[in-house]
Amino acid sequence: MPITLRRLSSLIAFVLIAGVLVAARRSAPPLDNGLARTPPMGWNSWNKFGCNVSEELIRGVADAIAANGMRDAGYQFVTIDDCWQVARSPQGTIVADSARFPHGMKALGDYIHAKGLKFGIYTDAGRKTCEGRPGSYGYEAIDARTYASWGVDYVKIDWCNSEGLDAKTQYAAFRDALANSGRKIVFSICEWGSNQPWEWAPAVGNLWRTTGDISDRWTSVLTLVDLSAQYWHVARPGAWNDPDMLEVGNGGMTRTEYRSHFSLWAMMAAPLIAGNDVRSMMDSSRAAADVREILLNKEVIAVDQDSLGIQGKIVQASPSELQVWVKPLQDGSRAVLLFNRASVPSLITARFGTIGLKEKKARVRDLWAHTEQAVVENFSSATVPSHGVVMLRVWPIAE
Ligand code: GLA
Repeated sequence: MPITLRRLSSLIAFVLIAGVLVAARRSAPPLDNGLARTPPMGWNSWNKFGCNVSEELIRGVADAIAANGMRDAGYQFVTIDDCWQVARSPQGTIVADSARFPHGMKALGDYIHAKGLKFGIYTDAGRKTCEGRPGSYGYEAIDARTYASWGVDYVKIDWCNSEGLDAKTQYAAFRDALANSGRKIVFSICEWGSNQPWEWAPAVGNLWRTTGDISDRWTSVLTLVDLSAQYWHVARPGAWNDPDMLEVGNGGMTRTEYRSHFSLWAMMAAPLIAGNDVRSMMDSSRAAADVREILLNKEVIAVDQDSLGIQGKIVQASPSELQVWVKPLQDGSRAVLLFNRASVPSLITARFGTIGLKEKKARVRDLWAHTEQAVVENFSSATVPSHGVVMLRVWPIAE
C-alpha cells in the first residue's frame, strides 16, 4: 500500500511527539534515589563557624560526634558549608583551599567514613557561592563526579549569584549530574523558598529549604516555623521541607527556647542538622549538659525520624499563641506538642478528638520529662512555660 502524504505526516507527527515525550522523561524523571527515607541528621559548619572551616575543625567535629553520643542518636552527615573552595583548575575541576585542607577532600572523606559517619559538602547552583567562591553553574557534571571521587554522601546546593537562571532547571541539571556521578548522594536544595520549591523540588531533591537563613534568636525560630508549617502536606519519605539548620547550643536563646526549637523541628519532620560546636558538648558545664539533654533526646528524635514520614501540623490555635500540633506515627500513636508562644505561662488543653483519636483513653508519655501516665481520659492539658513546649506521645487504648 503506497504511503499517502497524510499517512506520512501522521507518522512524522507520531515520531516527533514520541521523541519529545522520551526527551521530557529523560530530562525530568522524578527523583527516586532511595535516599533520606527519614529526615537527614547531621552537623554543618555554617551556623557556628561561617567561613572559618578547616580540615582540623572537621576532623575534630567527626571525632566528637562519634564519641559524644550524637552518632549513636542518629546524627550522620558531617557537612562542610561555604568557603572550602578557592578556584578551578584549567581542566575545570574545583580546587579546595590547600592551606585549610592540606590533605585534600578525599582524605577528609575517608577520615569521616572511618568514624562511621558520612561526608557532606556545599556548593552553589549559580556562578559563585554566597561567599564569592567558585559556583557550579556550567560545571554540574564535573563537580558531581569530583564529589563522588571524594566519597561525598550529601551535597547542599545554594542559590546565590544566579541572576537570570531558572531554579527548577538548574537544580534538575544537578539532580541528573548526581544521578550520573556513580555514587548515591543526598541532594539538599537551598534556594530559601524563593521559587516555590514545595511545588517542584520533591521531584528534584531530597530536601529543600522553605525559608531564609536561621539566626540564633527566638523571633527567627517563630518566623521559620510559620513558613515551613504551611507545606506539611508535601513532605514524605525521601522529600522533606527544610526550615534550616539547628541553632541549639549557640547561646542566643534560653534552654526553654532551644527545647522548643528542637521539638518543633521534630514535629515538622525537619532535617536535624546541628550547628553548634559539638566538640565542647562533653564539657562539665551546665550549658553543655543542657545541649546534650536536647540534641540527644532520643524520644524526640524518634518523632522526627518516624518511618511514616508525615510532617506534623497545627490542629488548634485558639488563641493563636497557644498551639496544639499533631504528628501521626507509624505505630498508631501520635506526637502531640503543646506550644506556648505567649509571654506568660499558659494552660493548654488538647482534647483527644482534636488530636484525631476516637478512643476515650490513652497512655501518655512526656518526651522531655520522660515520665508516663498509664491511663489518661479524654484530654491532655498542661501549664506550659512562656516560649516553651510540652511534648507528648499518645498511644490510644482500644475500648
Ligand atoms: C546561604 C545559605 C546558608 C549558608 C550560606 C553560606 O546564606 O542559606 O545556609 O550556606 O549561604 O554562604
